[in-house]
Amino acid sequence: MFGARCLFLALRRCSSAPCPKHTQAARLRVREALEAQEVADDIKVQGWVRSVRSQKEVLFLHINDGSSLESLQVVADPTLENRDLAFGSAVEVQGKLVKSLHRMQNVELKAENIRVLGPCDTLVFPFKPRERPLLEYSRQFPHLRCRTNVLSSLLRVRSEATAAIHSFFKDHGYVHIHTPIITSNDCEGAGELFHVKTSNEAPEPGKDSHFFNVPAFLTVSGQLHLEVMAGAFTHVFTFGPTFRAENSQSRRHLAEFYMVEAEISFTESLQDIIQVIEDLFKTATSIVLSKCPQEVELFHKYVSPAQKVRTDAEEQIQNWGGDLQTEHEKYLVKHCGEVPVFVINYPYELKPFYMRDNEDGPQHTVAAVDLLVPGIGELCGGSLREERLDFLQSRLERLGLADTYQWYLDLRQFGSVPHGGFGLGFERYLQCILGVDNIKDVIPFPRFPHSCLL
Ligand code: 4AD
Ligand code: MG
Repeated sequence: MFGARCLFLALRRCSSAPCPKHTQAARLRVREALEAQEVADDIKVQGWVRSVRSQKEVLFLHINDGSSLESLQVVADPTLENRDLAFGSAVEVQGKLVKSLHRMQNVELKAENIRVLGPCDTLVFPFKPRERPLLEYSRQFPHLRCRTNVLSSLLRVRSEATAAIHSFFKDHGYVHIHTPIITSNDCEGAGELFHVKTSNEAPEPGKDSHFFNVPAFLTVSGQLHLEVMAGAFTHVFTFGPTFRAENSQSRRHLAEFYMVEAEISFTESLQDIIQVIEDLFKTATSIVLSKCPQEVELFHKYVSPAQKVRTDAEEQIQNWGGDLQTEHEKYLVKHCGEVPVFVINYPYELKPFYMRDNEDGPQHTVAAVDLLVPGIGELCGGSLREERLDFLQSRLERLGLADTYQWYLDLRQFGSVPHGGFGLGFERYLQCILGVDNIKDVIPFPRFPHSCLL
């Protein structure tokens, strides 16, 4: 093993090693080529053909490599055309980057050599040039749809939004915790769990049937593990996959989704939690807008449906007896003028055991907050946590969970402080900023029940 000093010296030595001289053409990503301020002589670009237009005197290609929505125009002598050069084929083009006379682009690549590395049979390829397929159509090709402009834009936005969320927390001094994916907790208590078992369903006689000695599930939330860490770090967050065995047929539910969760110690006010949610939303969204303006515009122009508002929501909310349903949430957002709305202080009996009792008499509520947004409904759920041992203990005892959550009760015995946090559904966030109606269109690999998974 390296000592720290030794490791540092070894790294310095590596970085000062001379680089081998480049004699080959410089390889540029499409985005780098499009942003180039100067012309350059020997350039190589690799990517997939988005269009081929052959004229008598000149051959035009557009090449895309996923680095930007815009493709790079290649201008070539028609003699460089070959049978395999078609929409969807993978190519390597070598030539000169020159100023373009075209109004819409700064530069173009004047090809000296075109190599087709991977031909594409356009007759059977499900996407066609210059067509913008409907999302429903693309969903049938989860293995190929990333080659369309809409899905590649979505995936770039998803990637930038992930980075923006991480940088928000880093800039505000949060420690990133990797919470477990396999756990024995049911944090939300809603029983929407996927059970984890080994493929060997019938264990040897006399042997325990559980691999971990206790039943294990895919996590529904990293919150309880974050609360452990909130006993040593005042600001923690996690951003990972979360699983719910609930209706994944709906337009806003997935069986596997990503959740951003934060936990803040030494806070007694729900307003502090609301402020973090609001700052996170605003900061991440403005970063996405500045990094991916064309992608966001593509969605708003061509993909987002007009927001459909149900007129019967009011009637439904009057009959509401349980937790807020989608229609109630939509009604509240509409009532407030189609803007994001924070709803606070929910009935005690409807909410999970960890939420802090407001002790507010007959109405009896907990210090919970949900952020509702237009077109989606609930985007974030959070609360102050019950930090008082006696309150938590009696609630867990009433629910028959005191033994299971003895470790959680322990947290309230050793340096317990008022704290709170929230979880934001990452896919719903993407739906919200891009105006996407169906949550299956903001994930890399859509899933259909009863069909094979990729
Ligand atoms: O409101 P939820 O269930 O809250 C929790 O799990 C808390 N333990 C979080 C916390 O306080 N650390 O889920 C949080 C968010 C929801 O507001 C919603 O946006 C999203 O996760 N969500 C889903 N997104 C897609 N598909 C599903 N099946 C979802 N279930 C929840
Ligand atoms: Mg919730």
